[in-house]
Amino acid sequence: MDVMIKSVTPFEGQKPGTSGLRKKTRVFMTPGYVEAFVQSIFNAIGGCAGKTFVVGGDGRYFNAEAIQTILRMAAANGAARCIVGQGGLLSTPAASNLIRQRGTDGGLILSASHNPGGIDEDFGLKYNISNGGPAPESVTGAMFEQTKTISEYKTLDTADLDLSALGEVTLGDMVVEIIDPVTDYAALMETLFDFDAIRGLLTGGFTMKFDAMHAVTGPYAKAILEGTLGAPEGTVLNGEPKVDFGGGHPDPNPIWAKPLVDMVMGAEAPDFAAASDGDGDRNMILGKGIYVTPSDSLAVLAANAHLAPGYARGLAGVARSMPTSRAADRVAEKLGIGAYETPTGWKFFGNLLDAGKATLCGEESAGTGSDHVREKDGLWAVLLWLNVLAVRKMSVAEVLMDHWKTYGRDYYSRHDYEAVDAGIANAIMDDLKAITDLPAGIEKIDSFSYTDPVDGSVSENQGMRVYFEGGARAVMRLSGTGTEGATIRLYLEQYTPAEGDLGIETQAALAPLVSAIDDLTGLKTRSGREGPDVMT
Ligand code: G6P
Ligand code: ZN
Repeated sequence: MDVMIKSVTPFEGQKPGTSGLRKKTRVFMTPGYVEAFVQSIFNAIGGCAGKTFVVGGDGRYFNAEAIQTILRMAAANGAARCIVGQGGLLSTPAASNLIRQRGTDGGLILSASHNPGGIDEDFGLKYNISNGGPAPESVTGAMFEQTKTISEYKTLDTADLDLSALGEVTLGDMVVEIIDPVTDYAALMETLFDFDAIRGLLTGGFTMKFDAMHAVTGPYAKAILEGTLGAPEGTVLNGEPKVDFGGGHPDPNPIWAKPLVDMVMGAEAPDFAAASDGDGDRNMILGKGIYVTPSDSLAVLAANAHLAPGYARGLAGVARSMPTSRAADRVAEKLGIGAYETPTGWKFFGNLLDAGKATLCGEESAGTGSDHVREKDGLWAVLLWLNVLAVRKMSVAEVLMDHWKTYGRDYYSRHDYEAVDAGIANAIMDDLKAITDLPAGIEKIDSFSYTDPVDGSVSENQGMRVYFEGGARAVMRLSGTGTEGATIRLYLEQYTPAEGDLGIETQAALAPLVSAIDDLTGLKTRSGREGPDVMT
């Protein structure tokens, strides 16, 4: 088959961010746009000759078309094989698993995570390396350099492949292996968790709902929860993936998954409920009448992971992003294992996981995961919770209360000020950094800088930390994923020891901190807001 060399001119701004290249779908649909970026990826990784890649995405609008382009280009660039999820679907954690399990050179994942999908919404493409994790900055930097000078790309003149049938087909000299997107992932889950115990729970009167939000986890949750584990049909809500996610934001938090939250707070509440995002890496955990903050979820899972067969030998350590509450640190201390505080972004966990320093990781932004893959994993978190509930024979609320009675409670909330004028947001941060005279009640203010304990790399300016007398902490940072102006995130936490009052309403417990931060920074007046746009 003849390889075609086509010319292309560079596109502005093809700079991969925290999770690859994210743009409006119409931008990706510009003729040559995907081609220029994909050829830049291939050039940056030293070409494709003889290589094997995993290719798949979250099924959003333009997923199918972009995959056909990628496959033609991989073949034209000399790749030996591409492993593709049937229908072009692969959740992010399932792709990470396949890269590792099949020992491939890397993978191309098409997703804009929890952002809405559609021709006028968002699209994304990221490259993961052979450990299954997102490409580190050295690699994404090389890709960006390529995008600036790219002048031609290689492709084939072939018809679209039918990705609906399982099996192997050839495209030029390359083999395209179309696999069931769920099988290998489900097999991995079965090695980690006590499926018999969970099956006993789910068929023994315990009720649960899983909201797949019309995103990629639908087929995974149906196969694992309703199939293998025997949960009744109807346990998985919105289980059919749609190109526009049914018009919603596939973001599992109390705002975008409000119907699920309302359900657990109402009279018909199931014992357990959970949701995952567009590409299946985020999670939200709920119990009857209760929302579990991601920070508490990480701490509870760290304290109970040994109840699942895959973690029965104990954990090497626990890592959390800096703005995540310190609840997990208290567990690590009691277990006598390492506790790591990293900058925001899953990629910072990669080295700790590869080096065997951390087993569990988590972020306040609804991400939890372990060393089983190199991405966060929504369904994994749900299954670990179910395993814990099955063994402990307690409700979610009882597990949480028992946890707080053992370790104390870190009252926690994040307040977001969205679309703030970037100049004002930066000035607020700069002024906070410049404070030298500490007001009464504040012990320390610092700017978080991280030295990676594995490779020694340093990441500076990762957010401002304000430590109060009596153990409270506030963190302020600018979002790295916003699309409009600047988003100021204020993370608030107040520790109450085990013998203290563990049942205060969260926002009430944090109100004094909110006013102290406002006095310190002038946040509300300067941003021109009465309060946050979003509270998690
Ligand atoms: C993405 C990354 C997460 C990170 C989050 C933070 O979802 O995958 O690892 O925690 O962005 O976003 P932010 O807007 O706070 O920078
Ligand atoms: Zn995601």
